[in-house]
Amino acid sequence: MNERFREIFFQVYEPLPRQGPGNLDSAGRALALCRHLPPSPMILDMGCGVGGQTLHLAHLSPGTIYALDYHAPSVRRLARSVTTRGLEHRVRPIVGDMAYPPFPPASFDLIWSEGALYQIGMERALGVCHGLLGPDGHMAFTDAVWRKTDPPAEIRESFDLDYPAMTTAPAIVSLLGHCGFELLGRFTLPDQAWWQDFYCPMEERIRELRPRHLHDAQALAALDLLAREPELHRRYSDYYAYEFFVARKGTKTPQGRG
Ligand SMILES: C[S@@+](CC[C@H](N)C(=O)[O-])C[C@H]1O[C@@H](n2cnc3c(N)ncnc32)[C@H](O)[C@@H]1O
Repeated sequence: MNERFREIFFQVYEPLPRQGPGNLDSAGRALALCRHLPPSPMILDMGCGVGGQTLHLAHLSPGTIYALDYHAPSVRRLARSVTTRGLEHRVRPIVGDMAYPPFPPASFDLIWSEGALYQIGMERALGVCHGLLGPDGHMAFTDAVWRKTDPPAEIRESFDLDYPAMTTAPAIVSLLGHCGFELLGRFTLPDQAWWQDFYCPMEERIRELRPRHLHDAQALAALDLLAREPELHRRYSDYYAYEFFVARKGTKTPQGRG
């Protein structure tokens, strides 16, 4: 990302309710699949962004939630939302790198992550999570997956820019086994979870920003590029999906990790 694009990217993304697909219903459905949690679990939300799903989790679970992201402005925005809602006693926004999370091993009962783990590579992320979970710990995360093997070049090239290693849901299930997890369930996010809190506010925000950058060709080109994402989703959503995976730390040692 060049510097100007990065600036415009954050102007579009930071005010959104969330920075990826997801909604309260899907979070509730995933949490219901975590069948062996203690009544008030210790939860880590990895790559929380501005915390749309962190606040959903706080609504759905009485547990304590640490919300981690390395983008400080997003974490600050979540901290403000937490204060406004009086949740400071059990939601702790933290700036940090999920590749090197600042917690001792076996600190959590549940690791949650919506659309973020892939950023450090799924296998590495699952290894990190395995270490942070106590015995019987759970994971619930979403990841973009291909639904068909022959996506048109336009959509494949678009994902290649951000997520060249994107794979299929069965491949993620197999990776979970390889990394020492047992799958408890998985489901595909409904289309509404892409639009309501993500693409609709994104398109609205892009419309709002265009007049402010009328004489800035670079900014307008960046907005055009960002506007392509929801447009491509309208045309090609049959070819890919966001899948929620829910898994439990198994008793077997992860393969290849000794
Ligand atoms: C697609 S956004 C998803 C945000 C949020 N979970 C949601 O669904 O709205 C991915 C998030 O991961 C964060 N991220 C990427 N790499 C990270 C890393 N190494 N450590 C912590 N956060 C990271 C980004 O800053 C961003 O907020």
